[in-house]
Amino acid sequence: MNRLKEYYKKALQNHFALGAFNFNNMESLQGIVNGCKKTNAPAIIAVSEGALSYIGDDFIIELAKGAKASFTHLFLHLDHGKSFEICKKAIDLGFDSVMIDGSSLKFGENIALTKMVCDYAHKFDVQVEGELGQLKGIEDNVYASDHHFTDPLQAKIFVERTGVDSLAVAIGTSHGAYKYQGEQTLRFDILQEIENLLPSFPLVLHGASTVDKELVDKFNSYGGKLEHAVGVPKDLLIEAIKNHNIVKINTDTDLRLAMTMQVRKVLSENPKEFDLRKYLGKGREEIERVVMDKNQNLLFSANKID
Ligand code: G3H
Ligand code: 13P
Ligand code: ZN
Repeated sequence: MNRLKEYYKKALQNHFALGAFNFNNMESLQGIVNGCKKTNAPAIIAVSEGALSYIGDDFIIELAKGAKASFTHLFLHLDHGKSFEICKKAIDLGFDSVMIDGSSLKFGENIALTKMVCDYAHKFDVQVEGELGQLKGIEDNVYASDHHFTDPLQAKIFVERTGVDSLAVAIGTSHGAYKYQGEQTLRFDILQEIENLLPSFPLVLHGASTVDKELVDKFNSYGGKLEHAVGVPKDLLIEAIKNHNIVKINTDTDLRLAMTMQVRKVLSENPKEFDLRKYLGKGREEIERVVMDKNQNLLFSANKID
């Protein structure tokens, strides 16, 4: 069985979640790997379509090889694949897992596309994540001015008809650094209904960065201008992991903030510095710190390796 599938099972049974950490360059990947290794935490290293084209196919595969050689409990995942072709490409390249994101399509079209990806992926024992419902804000270059929460009945039909291995649900999170204007809450009632209809099925939360005030304040103190940035409150994520079936938590924004804060710090404190190892190295350390903290205190994935 695919080892990631086994980890999802273990996460469901033991109420922890795997971090799905997006990376965009070698240093961000190294920060994630070091953080997971030091906490003995299995995790997903995620690549968006944008990151794949930025880094390039060959480099992604070699970087992932290096990451796994350093710590074997890491799984390479395509984040927000929008077409059969991009998912097939990732599968053919050797990814462990792909997300087919048909969430902006009509229900029937999303089912047909997701099923097509599952049928192909499963021949190679690759895991597939689907998405139903839409996150508020920018998602995959589609702007939704409001949440389109996942419909629990549709979720059941979607899983049965497609054969997906996990499902990303929309219950009130959103991508980026500006997640809430009003009440900071998640729709646990909808999550519970989904779980009643799909017991013991691995569910995923996107847009789960916590955008910690301390990090944002530091970012701003070194010349950044992120005003009114708000993430998902930690206690809501812990509730989703401990009392529900969320087994994968996606984080990109917090890692970007961490690295960029350190780059700003080093450059603003040392205006004569131009050795890129000095600022990217500090950025890498900051990502490691954030990943360790999440694995230990938010996801409870620390010391969960098999
Ligand atoms: O969910 C989306 C990720 O944050 C990826 O963002 O498309 O800018 O790489 P990106
Ligand atoms: P954040 O923007 O909250 O980090 O979400 C990342 C994500 O969902 C990647 O798929
Ligand atoms: Zn996402």
